[in-house]
Amino acid sequence: MSPYIADPWAWQESWDRQQEAYLPDREHRFAAMLDTVDAVLDGRPPRVLDLAGGTGTISLRALARFPDAEATLVDLDPALLAIAGASLAGRATIVTADLNTPDWLATLPHREYDAVLTATALHWLPADRLTRLYAELRDVLRPGGVFVNADHMPDDTVPELTKRLMDRARERRDARYATGSVLSWSDWWERAGSDPALAPFVAERHAIYPTGHSPEWNPPVSWHLATLTAAGFSEVGTIWRGGPDAAVAAVR
Ligand SMILES: C[S@@+](CC[C@H](N)C(=O)[O-])C[C@H]1O[C@@H](n2cnc3c(N)ncnc32)[C@H](O)[C@@H]1O
Repeated sequence: MSPYIADPWAWQESWDRQQEAYLPDREHRFAAMLDTVDAVLDGRPPRVLDLAGGTGTISLRALARFPDAEATLVDLDPALLAIAGASLAGRATIVTADLNTPDWLATLPHREYDAVLTATALHWLPADRLTRLYAELRDVLRPGGVFVNADHMPDDTVPELTKRLMDRARERRDARYATGSVLSWSDWWERAGSDPALAPFVAERHAIYPTGHSPEWNPPVSWHLATLTAAGFSEVGTIWRGGPDAAVAAVR
């Protein structure tokens, strides 16, 4: 049973604004992701796995684009999953699992998916674990199914320019935080922690993620493409790029 969250859509909106402060082109990457799912449809509504899906951003957009889709959302954060559960209300299967261990596979309600989609999340995992996860994801897909990962993936052919782009983006973000036009990551969590319904979940989250943020290990896009190729995907490439971020796709 989902906990009672008075207005999950207000939390969805504030999460989106908070994330867009980091990723102004966030919706573009989701659109590119869903175009990729559309390109591999095989006549049935897609079965989509929203990996490290948080509040269900990708599930919600996938269900809007493909109303008969089956969505599974996997994440470990009890507060974000509480918002997801209240928003998706029976339209997706919500699973609590830790992607840091291969045990997460046993928690899935289906053996095969048409698409595995993830955004701004897998940089939370260390290199050796992400390498193994990529191989596990290949096995979760049907032949012809697709994995798409949108994340911070700098282009290593322009390292100095990337650094400058990131510096400028940080300055613009800090200016917005200073005016209060948008909440920072830590302010968003403080706000969630002071909401009576979310507070117990936020407290649980603090125990799960003691630092509160990712280790910020962001290998270049070439690392992802090489690792996905080594994991045995048949076609691997970049389907979207925006500044230091990219979305890579891998077809089983
Ligand atoms: C910045 S959020 C992105 C959420 C969502 N994909 C979006 O775009 O809004 C990163 C997500 O990764 C999840 N995550 C990080 N490490 C995880 C792990 N080991 N297992 C499951 N989920 C994890 C976090 O709980 C969080 O929901």
